[in-house]
Amino acid sequence: MPDLERTRLRQVFDEDAELYDRVRPGYPPRLFDDLAAPPAGIGAGSRVLEIGCGTGQATVPLAERGCRITAVELGPAMATVARRNLARFPAVEVVTGAFEEWPLPAEPFDAVFSATAFHWIDPAVRVAKAADALRIGGVLATVATHHVAGGSEDFFAEVQECYERFDPATPPGLRLRGAAEIPEDHEETDRSSRFGPAAFHRYEREITYSTQEYLAVLRTYSGHRALDPVARDGLLRCIARVIDNRYGGRITKRYLTELRLARRTA
Ligand SMILES: C[S@@+](CC[C@H](N)C(=O)[O-])C[C@H]1O[C@@H](n2cnc3c(N)ncnc32)[C@H](O)[C@@H]1O
Repeated sequence: MPDLERTRLRQVFDEDAELYDRVRPGYPPRLFDDLAAPPAGIGAGSRVLEIGCGTGQATVPLAERGCRITAVELGPAMATVARRNLARFPAVEVVTGAFEEWPLPAEPFDAVFSATAFHWIDPAVRVAKAADALRIGGVLATVATHHVAGGSEDFFAEVQECYERFDPATPPGLRLRGAAEIPEDHEETDRSSRFGPAAFHRYEREITYSTQEYLAVLRTYSGHRALDPVARDGLLRCIARVIDNRYGGRITKRYLTELRLARRTA
């Protein structure tokens, strides 16, 4: 994604932090078990730097497992809601700012963690700065979320017509890929001389949404938020019609969550 587009789109989450907090799904509990288990060992007492915590979707479960967390969050409204959600954890601090510009503290971290946010950070900075933030042997743990084929498959094919009509950026005939067709994202850490080879854990799950629940989730996606308001309303009305008229008011979406772990070596 071009730099300008990335810096514009990554700001839109902050427009409605309460909606994001209400409707964005969290992460499978097994992900946090895998983080805590060897070799990552990110659990009770670990000093964690989180990048882009949102309103705390992954921060709360990490804090519940006893991590001591500094979270850097770009959006002031997102950070405010995160502080509210994390108020009961004295070892968690949420700082407002862009990770790229945030001055690293002198004491290194055991882990740098980022859930569905690392791709919003400047690619020229993110891996090197994460390495700078870590002690030797510390772990960079990033979580990517993919929308994959499965669940109400026919719905996701059919609804492309709405996207083609209302979103000019939609390529014709777009279809979701199966989870097995999505390659592991190891190039970026492999390219850096400061991390060992990446290890991966994958989790698949399905979530069923009513029409209104699904529209609310779509309203938290950067691409949908950034659409011209008239086009966005038309798109959401079109999607609602498909769910109500053809799927009885409920659809199921399949998610692939990928946890990437890379250890700092140098
Ligand atoms: C898709 S949301 C993910 C939020 C949360 N971690 C989750 O799992 O739902 C991406 C988050 O990254 C934040 N973000 C984007 N660019 C950032 C940057 N340069 N520094 C810090 N946070 C950033 C956004 O404000 C947003 O809260």
